[in-house]
Amino acid sequence: MKKICVIGLGYIGLPTACMLAYSGYKVIGIDVNDYIVNLLNSGEVHIDEEGLRKLFQKVISNKAIKVSKNVEEADVFIIAVSTPLNKENKADLSYIISAAYGIKDYIKKGNLVILESTSPPGTTRNIVGNIIEESTKLRAGRDFYLAYCPERVMPGKVLYELINNARIVGGINKESAKKAKEVYEKFVEGKIKLTTLEIAEIVKLAENSYRDVNIAFSNELSLICSDYAVDVWDVIKFANKHPRVNILNPGPGVGGHCIPIDPLFLLDNISRKDTLIEKSRIVNKSVPFIISKKVLEIIKDYKNPKVTLFGLSYKENVGDIRESPAIDIYNELFKKGINVSIFDPLVKSTKYKIASLENSLKNSDLLLLLTAHKIFKKVSLDYISKSMRNKNIFDTRNFFNKDLLKKYGFKYYKI
Ligand SMILES: NC(=O)c1ccc[n+]([C@@H]2O[C@H](COP(=O)([O-])OP(=O)(O)OC[C@H]3O[C@@H](n4cnc5c(N)ncnc54)[C@H](O)[C@@H]3O)[C@@H](O)[C@H]2O)c1
Repeated sequence: MKKICVIGLGYIGLPTACMLAYSGYKVIGIDVNDYIVNLLNSGEVHIDEEGLRKLFQKVISNKAIKVSKNVEEADVFIIAVSTPLNKENKADLSYIISAAYGIKDYIKKGNLVILESTSPPGTTRNIVGNIIEESTKLRAGRDFYLAYCPERVMPGKVLYELINNARIVGGINKESAKKAKEVYEKFVEGKIKLTTLEIAEIVKLAENSYRDVNIAFSNELSLICSDYAVDVWDVIKFANKHPRVNILNPGPGVGGHCIPIDPLFLLDNISRKDTLIEKSRIVNKSVPFIISKKVLEIIKDYKNPKVTLFGLSYKENVGDIRESPAIDIYNELFKKGINVSIFDPLVKSTKYKIASLENSLKNSDLLLLLTAHKIFKKVSLDYISKSMRNKNIFDTRNFFNKDLLKKYGFKYYKI
């Protein structure tokens, strides 16, 4: 039975380690964070993801997985550490570098090293490969296998998508790609396509850059439609009837750990200026400020106005607030002296104060819907209308039914 060492037990590493353990591998999960290691060793998980707790408890109780701070010898090493942006908007590869240094002393001839972290093109070969080659004198592709296998899962559906999504596997040579495919095909039911390291790295970044550019287009379209006093959602709905058109939804901005970051990774090593990708980033980053301006306009005649934000997370039905545009909106309104109250029952731990439904709506002058959580559908319009001081709703997600809102006497604003 093969032994796999997974480095980094976050949103990606933990579910992956669990799936590998569940598929019959002997897995050792490594994290540098004491809190995470202790929590996992107590049988609890730190990530709220459907089915994950149960799966983890199954694999830890039958000893298919072990969690530790200390790397061990293994047949396969998978690096799934974070790759944030640094202050210069470039990829911070320090976690990958320390993970590569962390495993170098345990790599033996015939081992396979896989990088899963989203990274600028060239990272697998020039950072991970070089660190191991220089310190072990083993050659990538000859003495050990080296591959890049990006992750495409969607938070909230991670376990389902780990199994069902198609995957792309890049190798430093064909043998490396084939060896990596063998690891994943134990649990992946989607197609696994093999290619080179750099193609796989760019594919991952291209996918999210494509989405960012498309969302920037829809955000720009929403501003144009607003000038024409036309509903952008109708425009997109009809335009998407075209067999070769697929415009994504506009919204309050783009958040999460991937879409706002990956386009910048794609541009990381190139000197080309004024790219469409860069401009799309600027458009999407400006949206929270445009929304905040509109909010200030709606409430300008109220004395000591209060605004209720429905949703702080960047995406519906998850509690992840990384890069959430709702935070920019909150900060912008707060800076302008507005009393802002946040209601988001899915956000568990944050420095932002999350209010109860009752407190968030009490004396509110505007409900600003930023995240289309299913759970918000359970809040009755009758309750909302009775709780608020002034009945204004600004919907950034096309979430509410306009006719119903009218029945309850709401003034309705929409992107
Ligand atoms: N979260 C997503 O939805 C998603 C989707 C696709 C791809 N990705 C990519 O996957 C990678 C991991 O993302 P994530 O969301 O799981 O990050 P995360 O921050 O949730 O988890 C990373 C973990 O790695 C640990 N770590 C850091 N350095 C370490 C080291 N040297 N040794 C051992 N552990 C270390 C951290 O303590 C943390 O627990 C990133 O490159 C990300 O861009 C994420």
